[in-house]
Amino acid sequence: MQLEIVKDYDALSKKAAYILASQIILKPKSVLGLATGSTPIGTYNELIHMYKNGIINFSGITTFNLDEYYGLNVNDKQSYHYFMEQHLFNNIDIKKENIHIPNGKANNMDVECQQYENSIKEAGGIDLQLLGIGQNGHIGFNEPNEKFEALTHLVNLDTDTIEANARFFDSIDKVPTQAISMGIKTIMQSNKILLLASGENKAEAVYKMIKGNITPELPASVLQLHSDVVVIVDEAAATLL
Ligand code: GLP
Repeated sequence: MQLEIVKDYDALSKKAAYILASQIILKPKSVLGLATGSTPIGTYNELIHMYKNGIINFSGITTFNLDEYYGLNVNDKQSYHYFMEQHLFNNIDIKKENIHIPNGKANNMDVECQQYENSIKEAGGIDLQLLGIGQNGHIGFNEPNEKFEALTHLVNLDTDTIEANARFFDSIDKVPTQAISMGIKTIMQSNKILLLASGENKAEAVYKMIKGNITPELPASVLQLHSDVVVIVDEAAATLL
């Protein structure tokens, strides 16, 4: 793991965007794994800025998002489909057919999960996967004690996660209790991984991810086993390191 500690959220967003931009410039047909949550918003803003200034373009890029809430429509304002459109896709030149996000309303979840895995394979695998981290150490929506061998699947969300994500909903009882998520194995199959963490509320998860035992109890700890991971944290998230 390559650890980069930067001053604050702005510096983190810039550094992350530069790594993604470099991937795009070096391989214009890259397959990117994308994340949602508050953390990558600054990175997406920087990418949009670079796109508008003619530094990068997304015309050959294919994307796969990590996860989606179970049961939400694509145009639901709390869905990750909507999030991605607002924060990135509507502002760049990516082709609609190259965007992949799990369908939280699929009739048959097993088929949806299998098809998602097949699409990643058909695209040639993920070149660079962007990740955030949950306060409980989750990546994607892989909660503590999920199997490391899991591929894309339907997950039950932890109470911690539901509470943490309630800020995006009108009330806590509106937060879905399940989600469809790439599994740990899907994530680990990516060629490169870029994980971002900002703020003191992530400090414990960051510490355990880097210094702790490799255990399904702290899903992100599995990244210690990957050969090409860059972790960018701001000073607040690095306080326990
Ligand atoms: C959600 C997402 C994760 C994300 C996490 C942290 O649960 N499924 O992919 O990393 O939240 O979000 P935030 O960046 O808002 O702290």
